[in-house]
Amino acid sequence: MLEHNTFGMNVKAAQFIEFESEQEAVSILADGVDAPILVIGGGSNLLFVDDFEGTVLHSRIMGFEVVEEDDEALLLRVGSGVNWDDLVAYTVERGWQGLENLSVIPGEVGASAVQNVGAYGVEAGDLIERVEALALDDASKRCFSKQECCYSYRSSLFKKELKGKYIITFVTFRLRKKPQFSLSYGNLSDVVTRMGGPSVGNIRRAVKEIRASKLPDTKELGSAGSFFMNPVVSARKARALAELYPQMPQYPVADGRVKLSAAWLIDRCGWKERRVGRVGVYKHQPLVVVNYGGASGREVYDFSLEVCRSVEQMFGVELVREVNIIG
Ligand code: EPU
Repeated sequence: MLEHNTFGMNVKAAQFIEFESEQEAVSILADGVDAPILVIGGGSNLLFVDDFEGTVLHSRIMGFEVVEEDDEALLLRVGSGVNWDDLVAYTVERGWQGLENLSVIPGEVGASAVQNVGAYGVEAGDLIERVEALALDDASKRCFSKQECCYSYRSSLFKKELKGKYIITFVTFRLRKKPQFSLSYGNLSDVVTRMGGPSVGNIRRAVKEIRASKLPDTKELGSAGSFFMNPVVSARKARALAELYPQMPQYPVADGRVKLSAAWLIDRCGWKERRVGRVGVYKHQPLVVVNYGGASGREVYDFSLEVCRSVEQMFGVELVREVNIIG
């Protein structure tokens, strides 16, 4: 699985099966595959702590197809095996608007619809129109509307009720022809101005620059991007924390609760640039756990538990992992 996980874990799966079309996936599933089944995308959100004694399925369904179009918008149907950033580049080159803030996120299109990847004020679920998927148990096809997918911060139906039950084959995105940029996150607007002002191309360049300054390149340093999610706490808990720590960043979310910055909490616990053996937190973004080379999945996992423990002790806040632990 070495080529299929950005943490760089050199583990094995009992079976590894890829397919290039929906028909091929149907016949593989209809023939039956050995359980347990693990569906992967680009492996940028996985931590293998052991070999996987089951079947790993990976879509290599490619292709882009405009399935509807008018003067304002278009629907683009994309194969689940397409690299996420190839999709963003494809849409930006054509001046289609919507995905530019999500430039350079590692991973593939199918996983983006499970994970609801997000960055710089935009989430994939904002642009997703529908998701086509096959049931792992009987290979039946189902088409999920955006509403049925129940997107929320880093979550969806496919991470909850339907976790491990479907494999995504195509995702259809609604993209705009008339711009409606999202520039309110952090210093994005300043960087875009420096690049020459708002356009899909300039936003993509700005996001690339910001990400390169904060996040490690997984080709150079094993990681899975954010290891933890930003914790969401009750308004009451947030008020109590704000009294104790007036500097603590807090962002109200739609349901009245408050999102805290996991990076800030980890930083305040003194983890910045700290390293235990071959594992540490990334110097520019403490919510990213990195493998400095040769660390086992178990070492990375144990390190992450230490980080959680200290945040819990200092702030009484539970950090929830974003990364899926396998094994
Ligand atoms: N911060 C610190 N110390 C640091 C770095 C950051 O305290 O060394 C605090 C600061 O308060 C800063 C805040 O963290 O303002 C936010 O940092 P950043 O803009 O990097 O955003 P984030 O909330 O930490 C989330 C996503 C990232 C995404 C960025 C930008 C999650 C779990 N992570 O990080 O996603 O790129 O926003 O939108 O929501 C990923 O999922 O793999 C990922 C990288």
